[in-house]
Amino acid sequence: MRTITVNTSKAYEITIGEGLLDQAGAILKKTSGGQAAVIITDDIVAELYAGRLANSLAGSGYRVTQYVIPHGEASKNGNNFLSILNFLAEKKITRKDLVLALGGGVVGDLAGFAAACYMRGIHFAQLPTTLLAAVDSSVGGKTAIDLAAGKNLAGAFYQPDAVICDISLLSTLTPQVYQDGCAEVIKTGAIADKVLFESFETPINTQLEKVIARCVEIKRDIVVEDEFETGARKLLNFGHTAGHAIELLSNYEITHGSAVSAGMAIITRAASRMGICDAQCARDILSMLKSYNLPVNTRYEAADLARACLSDKKRDGDRLTMVFPAKTGKCVLQEVRVDELENVLRLGLEAEAD
Ligand code: GLY
Repeated sequence: MRTITVNTSKAYEITIGEGLLDQAGAILKKTSGGQAAVIITDDIVAELYAGRLANSLAGSGYRVTQYVIPHGEASKNGNNFLSILNFLAEKKITRKDLVLALGGGVVGDLAGFAAACYMRGIHFAQLPTTLLAAVDSSVGGKTAIDLAAGKNLAGAFYQPDAVICDISLLSTLTPQVYQDGCAEVIKTGAIADKVLFESFETPINTQLEKVIARCVEIKRDIVVEDEFETGARKLLNFGHTAGHAIELLSNYEITHGSAVSAGMAIITRAASRMGICDAQCARDILSMLKSYNLPVNTRYEAADLARACLSDKKRDGDRLTMVFPAKTGKCVLQEVRVDELENVLRLGLEAEAD
């Protein structure tokens, strides 16, 4: 078991190890207290793990209720957000009680945003059940729902009381969901740690605890430096500007990890052609993505991608801050004018650096 402390505006611990689900009640009684715990989860995770979590919570004296959403990105919407708030009110949940996100990124973002808003903020903890949530979305306090115009357009920075990552829960992931997580893992190595990046030549699922812990440390360091994403935290968006555009254009049929993988590949090829990274760095990133059967291209045209990118909240006036690889294990931020974006994306779609 490993414990990583996150010293953001609110300090909390991320615990990573096998069998932690059954210890969740005892851990949360110490970090959060309260009388009632509301598990927010999706239909797939509910069947697999909500009963065990409920038992653990009840064993520590919590009155437990559960709110289940359909799995998938489409659930991260305003209707579910309001329904959860109403559910919390109907169950007479107070500010001293606890909301738990048991699931992947969709559940974590939606439940976290509801926890941030209900009574102006109540106790909240994340129990990630996907690789993507374990290494990325459960760490750092970003919560959100999607709007028709794009992903994560309404949300809040709201740090949890605790993150409890039971890696044995990842054994039931479908290949697609596991692969989605691998995209975020590869992203983390690519932005900040060459040794970690190169370690992915050994399959990630044979070294899960070590890889998750290192990814979480990297993300922790970035988030502690820039909790509210005014600078360095933007590095975590490597592949995400184009990736979010691909998700939006596909009406979220292309999953987040696949879209981010294609987004990283596009920006990597563009960086190589723009002289920001050398050909070796581009080859390293593209071949690592391919080795995990992740997509390195998209069917969408540069003009459509650019239009969709510009609905992204990260646009800043007539500029976007984009993340480019500089060398293997290091990314940099560079501003791109809105009217140059389509050309940058076209370079990434057309180039043959891979
Ligand atoms: N997923 C990127 C971030 O938390 O900043």
